[in-house]
Amino acid sequence: MSPFNRREFLNRTAILSAAVAAGTPLVRAEEKASAAKGSANDRLKVAVIGVRGRGMSHVGGYLSKNANCEITTVCDCDEAIIGPAMKKIGDAQKGELKYVKDIRKVIEDKSIDVISIATPNHWHALAAVWAMRAGKHVYVEKPATHNVHEGRLMVQASRKYGKVCQVGTQSRSTNGMREAIAYIHEGNIGKVNLAYGTCYKPRGSIGKVDGVQSTPRTMDYDLWCGPARVIQPTRNTKNGPVHYDWHWIWEYGNGDFGNQGVHEADKARWGLNLPGLPTSVVSIGGRFGYVDDGETPNTQLNLYEYPGAHILFEVRGLNTKDYKGAKVGNIWFGDKGYVVCPNYSSGVAYTPDGVKVKEFKGGGDQSHFDNFLKAARANDHKLLNCDVEEGHLSAALCHLGNISYRLGTACTMDQPTDAFSGCKDAVAALERMKDHVKDNGVNLAEAKGLMGVTLKIDPKTEKFVGHAKANEMLFREYRKGFDIVEAV
Ligand SMILES: NC(=O)c1ccc[n+]([C@@H]2O[C@H](COP(=O)([O-])OP(=O)(O)OC[C@H]3O[C@@H](n4cnc5c(N)ncnc54)[C@H](O)[C@@H]3O)[C@@H](O)[C@H]2O)c1
Repeated sequence: MSPFNRREFLNRTAILSAAVAAGTPLVRAEEKASAAKGSANDRLKVAVIGVRGRGMSHVGGYLSKNANCEITTVCDCDEAIIGPAMKKIGDAQKGELKYVKDIRKVIEDKSIDVISIATPNHWHALAAVWAMRAGKHVYVEKPATHNVHEGRLMVQASRKYGKVCQVGTQSRSTNGMREAIAYIHEGNIGKVNLAYGTCYKPRGSIGKVDGVQSTPRTMDYDLWCGPARVIQPTRNTKNGPVHYDWHWIWEYGNGDFGNQGVHEADKARWGLNLPGLPTSVVSIGGRFGYVDDGETPNTQLNLYEYPGAHILFEVRGLNTKDYKGAKVGNIWFGDKGYVVCPNYSSGVAYTPDGVKVKEFKGGGDQSHFDNFLKAARANDHKLLNCDVEEGHLSAALCHLGNISYRLGTACTMDQPTDAFSGCKDAVAALERMKDHVKDNGVNLAEAKGLMGVTLKIDPKTEKFVGHAKANEMLFREYRKGFDIVEAV
């Protein structure tokens, strides 16, 4: 039994928030003094946590010429993974490089200034909070969180311990995206009442395993599971039983919305300039086209209501064409035109009739790491392009939609629904989604999915209104020894 569980969270959130808010930022004087860029004093010592996929991009980010960083530690709970990272760093740097299997040892190391987290989602918040508590700046991959409430705890930890925490939605730092969003914010497409995010990315089956698989002997699987329950894996892909395909298992991942889609959800919210959570959410979808051990939907439509605007978000994991030029992208509709951004760094503005008026382009991942390092050196979270508060609110969109979906009732995709009737664009999007499912050879009458619950949200408390079961899903039980609240 963890010392602070999800049920208690429902009663104790307010007390905890007040206690944390009263904490004094522990900003070390010498950090402020060493904010000048480029000097030897200014060189930051970095540990990268999780180096299989995205972690290698972190390695590249800190090795870049102008980063002025030394990667002193590589941490991965699977020692079979670390070869490429150790070689890349060893080839680029002269200093000693350590491999540490256990993240807790890395966090104890007082010589480390920056912890860069590229683990699976269920570890993000806990690792970030532990690291900030130990006095380290944090770069944490998207989605910032695995559930809604841990995002608020991360924000509180950042402010309490006086450490910056950048979330890895790197579109926030590319010139092309920043110009496109500024164009929208300046009113060039008029009043914007709809942001449409598309995560159209084909994802294959992860297979159906008879029984359970053993985990690699090179790996500490207990540590890999960390705060989450230990479930023996049933995944059969080129990634092996554990890595990467955890995205499709609720205990560890958040589906493709929380994987690719959170980039587009973040941009959707940013374009609308929305500072908090929506006031309602509803979701529909299913896992269509194959039968496997994956749990998360590969087809999903979510509608979020804000005062005066909607966010509509769609996941398509089967083959599909684009919508108005966006496959993995965004469209913002205003009364004087619309903007389409088909990737992380470019966009096109159109008149309402579809005549191109302006293009935006440029930028890559490095600018997000550079922005983080600048904010860390100045110890000023206001300099971050994706402060943890933004990352929390954007990740929450995917969690809120998934809660609506998971609490839903069984349906087939040919069943009528009026759940989206408050937004005509959503009604049209649902019809397009059904056509897309049919185009993939799936009979709608046999496409068994879930019709989610329409949930009201109070943006001030970041809780659902009048739905106890949904509120329980805003937080999780943390395994003993991996408790996030004790850490804050
Ligand atoms: N910003 C982006 O564009 C982008 C791109 C890809 C992935 N990501 C994010 O990066 C994260 C990692 O994704 P991935 O594709 O590399 O996943 P992955 O499963 O391929 O790799 C994760 C690595 O973390 C290690 N790990 C797990 N728990 C650990 C722990 N407690 N301590 C140390 N190491 C641990 C694993 O052993 C593995 O090597 C995910 O959260 C994902 O959403 C972001």
